[in-house]
Amino acid sequence: MLKTKVCIILSILFISAVPLAASNAVFNVVKLGAKPDGKTDSTKSFIEAWAGACGSSDSSTINVPSGRYLIRNGVFKGPCKNADITIRIEGTLIAPSDYNVIGNSENWLSFQWITGVSIYGGTLDGQGIGLWACKLGNKKCPDGATSLSFTNSKDIVINGLKSLNAQMFHIVINRCENVNMRGLMITASGNSPNTDGIHVQLSTGVTIMNSGIKTGDDCISIGPGTKNLWIEHIACGPGHGISIGSLAKNLDEPGVQNVTVKTVVFTGTQNGLRIKAWGRPSNGFVKGVVFQHVLMKNVQNPIIIDQNYCPRDEGCPNQSRRGDCPGLKSVGLDMISAIYVSGVKISHITFQDIQGTSATKVAVKLDCSPKNPCEGINLENVKLRYNNQPAVSSCSNADGSIHGVVEPAGCL
Ligand SMILES: *[C@@H]1O[C@H](CO)[C@@H](O)[C@H](O)[C@H]1NC(C)=O
Ligand SMILES: *[C@@H]1O[C@H](CO)[C@@H](O)[C@H](O)[C@H]1NC(C)=O
Repeated sequence: MLKTKVCIILSILFISAVPLAASNAVFNVVKLGAKPDGKTDSTKSFIEAWAGACGSSDSSTINVPSGRYLIRNGVFKGPCKNADITIRIEGTLIAPSDYNVIGNSENWLSFQWITGVSIYGGTLDGQGIGLWACKLGNKKCPDGATSLSFTNSKDIVINGLKSLNAQMFHIVINRCENVNMRGLMITASGNSPNTDGIHVQLSTGVTIMNSGIKTGDDCISIGPGTKNLWIEHIACGPGHGISIGSLAKNLDEPGVQNVTVKTVVFTGTQNGLRIKAWGRPSNGFVKGVVFQHVLMKNVQNPIIIDQNYCPRDEGCPNQSRRGDCPGLKSVGLDMISAIYVSGVKISHITFQDIQGTSATKVAVKLDCSPKNPCEGINLENVKLRYNNQPAVSSCSNADGSIHGVVEPAGCL
C-alpha cells in the first residue's frame, strides 16, 4: 500500500518537474539582427542575446547558426540570473581584419563574473596574421588581444571549440573554478609570437582533455595560483610545449600545486615538459606535479626545469657569476653566464614513462636554484634518444630519486 502511494507521489512530482526543467529561454543571434556575411558588425546582436540569456531566471540558450559573424569587442558579464547558460555555435566568429581595432584591448571575447556557462562547437578566428607580421618586423605594434578569456567565473564548459590565429593568447582562464575544456582545436603558425594555446592562472579545478594545439608559443602555460589542474590526451606542436611558468615575476606570488599532465604527444616543439622561474626573489612554489605517458618526437628540450631565467638581465638581483668560481675562471669560463637565485621552491615533481627523441643532445636539463634546490624530483622509466644515440642530461641543484630505466642517466 505504502509503496504504491510513494510511487504515485513520486510520479506526480516527476511529471510536474518535467515542464519546469524544459522551460528554456532561447536566443538566436540572427533573429536579433546578426548577419552571417562576415562583414556586418554583429557585436550588438551578440550582446543582446547575452543580456537575454543572462537575465533569464530559467536556464537559457544562445544559438549561433552557421555563417561568419564579424565581432568587435565582446564583453559578456555576469552575475546572471541563472547558472545554466548554453551557447551553441555552428558558425565562425571573426575579429576585425584591421588588428588595430582590438589590438590594444586585453581580450577580444571576454566572459566575467559568471557561473554555469557551456559553449559547444564554434570557430573563433582572431585574424592575427597581420599583427604577427608587424611584431616579427620589429615595428611598433599593439600587444594584441587574447581571443577568449574567462575571469572570476566558475562551472564553465568549453567543448569542441576551434580557435584560429589569435592575435595573442588563444584562451585564458583567470581566477576561475571548475572549468572543463574538451575537444579543442587550436591553430596558429609555428612562428607566430605570443600565441599561447591555453593559459591558466589563479584557478582551481581546470581540466583540459582530448585537444590538439598547434601554435607559436606555449601549447599550455600554467601561471601562479593554479591548483588541481588536469591535462590529458593532448597533441602539441608546433609550439613551445607545456610550461609551468614563468613564475617569480613577483615577490608575492601564489604557488602552483597538484598538476597532472598525462598522455601527451609533442611533435617538433621547442620544449616538452618545462618548469620556468625567473631568477628573482619570490615566495612562489611548485609542488605535486605528475608528468606521465608522454611521447616526444624531435623535441629540443624534452624535460627542462629552468630556474635561471632572466632574459636581458632584467631585475634579477643576487645573481652569482660563474666567473666568481676561480676554478672556472682558470679555464676561461668566467663571464659566460650568470646564475640567478630564484626564490621559487620546486618540489615533488614526477616524470614517469617519458619516451621518444630529442632534437638536441641534452634531453634532460634540471637547472635549479643554488639557494633553493629542487627536491623530490622523481624520474621513472624515462627513455630519450638523440640522433639514434644516447642523449645526455645536465643537472644542478636537483635532488630526488630514480626508478626503473632512466636514459639519459646521471642526473640526480
Ligand atoms: C588534485 O587534482 C585533481 C584534479 O586534477 C583532484 O581530483 C584531486 O582531488 C586533487 N588532489 C588533492 C589532494 O587536492
Ligand atoms: C639578496 O640577498 C640578501 C641575502 O640573502 C637578502 O637579504 C636581500 O633581500 C636580497 N635582495 C633582494 C633584492 O632580494
